[in-house]
Amino acid sequence: MARTEIDLLIKGGQVVTALSGSAPVRGGDMQKLEIIEEGWVACAAGQITAVGPAEEVREQVELTNETMVIGAAGKVITPGLIDPHTHLVFGGSREDEFYLRARGADYMEIMEAGGGILSSVRATRAASLEELVSAGTDRLRWMLEQGVTTVECKSGYGLDLDTELKQLEAVRILKDAQPVELVSTYLGAHAWPPEYAEDRDGYVDFVINTVLPKIREEGLAEFVDVFTEKGVFSVEQSRRIFNKAKELGFALRVHADEMHTLGGAELAAELGMASADHLLMVSEEGIQALAESGVIPILLPGTAFSLRKPYAPARKMLDAGLPLALATDFNPGSCPITSLALVMSLACLYMAMTPEEVLNAVTINAAYSLGRSERIGSLEAGKQADIVIFQVDDYRKIPYYIGTNLVETVIKTGKVVVSR
Ligand code: NIG
Ligand code: FE
Repeated sequence: MARTEIDLLIKGGQVVTALSGSAPVRGGDMQKLEIIEEGWVACAAGQITAVGPAEEVREQVELTNETMVIGAAGKVITPGLIDPHTHLVFGGSREDEFYLRARGADYMEIMEAGGGILSSVRATRAASLEELVSAGTDRLRWMLEQGVTTVECKSGYGLDLDTELKQLEAVRILKDAQPVELVSTYLGAHAWPPEYAEDRDGYVDFVINTVLPKIREEGLAEFVDVFTEKGVFSVEQSRRIFNKAKELGFALRVHADEMHTLGGAELAAELGMASADHLLMVSEEGIQALAESGVIPILLPGTAFSLRKPYAPARKMLDAGLPLALATDFNPGSCPITSLALVMSLACLYMAMTPEEVLNAVTINAAYSLGRSERIGSLEAGKQADIVIFQVDDYRKIPYYIGTNLVETVIKTGKVVVSR
């Protein structure tokens, strides 16, 4: 057999990846991982060319003088982690509210009093494009250093046309300016802007008739999201926005059943969305509707932790055969958490998920929710070389050492981008 010349070889670690397959990993199958002790991962030109036990990979590859060899004995090797739900780009910060909430103030009450999301809207409108890019660069660096190689980023802190475009433009600039792959989502329906306080349906019309077509025309977002929530966007208002978005060719994601049981999960199933996110308050019917659909439920236990709310019923969803993903929900208010590893620990501790389930959730299923499973989310020949090496000898230690960054090396498209 002809050997492939490789430019990167990682050898001797515990290789841990989702099983190779052609569908999201569902229910009981989320317990399964492929684990190769003392495995090798070989890469060429930014792609994985072979993964497996040393003796198998050795026969398939040819090392040259240029091949970089990374010894990983006693380390864990995983796919680059994928964070499929963040609000990465915003102006200002909300530590004042964090301390108010710490002493008992309620998140939705702060929002109804004009703070919360609207306070970030004011700061984001006031920020320059350069300031948004600079803050985004820092935050992406924090994430990358924790092993995250792909991040979904939502707008939603402008609400007016110019500021929404400015946020999405910041994401576009960031895509080319640093190593983390970014996926853009327009979330104009995130809160009611003060300009439309007396005319809420007028704002829905504005989103549908003005903003969505403009974003489509400029190619500034791949997905459209709505905060479907009591007092925010009703199911009917959300459906109108999503129908138009679908007609324009956007794929859909939704903030569903976060604070109240409203039917966001059912709406996601009805419209064939890519993901339904949060689901703290999802109903039995909502779980059933998701089970009969291809929607990926994305759970965000960092938000429940940070808001001190009940966690999403992960075990019930797994029993119903759902393919769960996990994300940080990083944002300035309800969840200022950038660590996907912390989210994995919270998922184990408070949603009774196993380390195998959480690893599938932050790799292959997260990739499916972003429509990128062909290229990322597992360590397989032919996939992009997005790889993390952790400073522990067993993958179960990753969620176990809560709050410690165990990442040693991050490789993005075959290049070492973090080395600690
Ligand atoms: O996902 N739920 C709505 N949006 C965010 C919070 C945004 C904020 O507080 O700024 C969330 O929790
Ligand atoms: Fe969110």
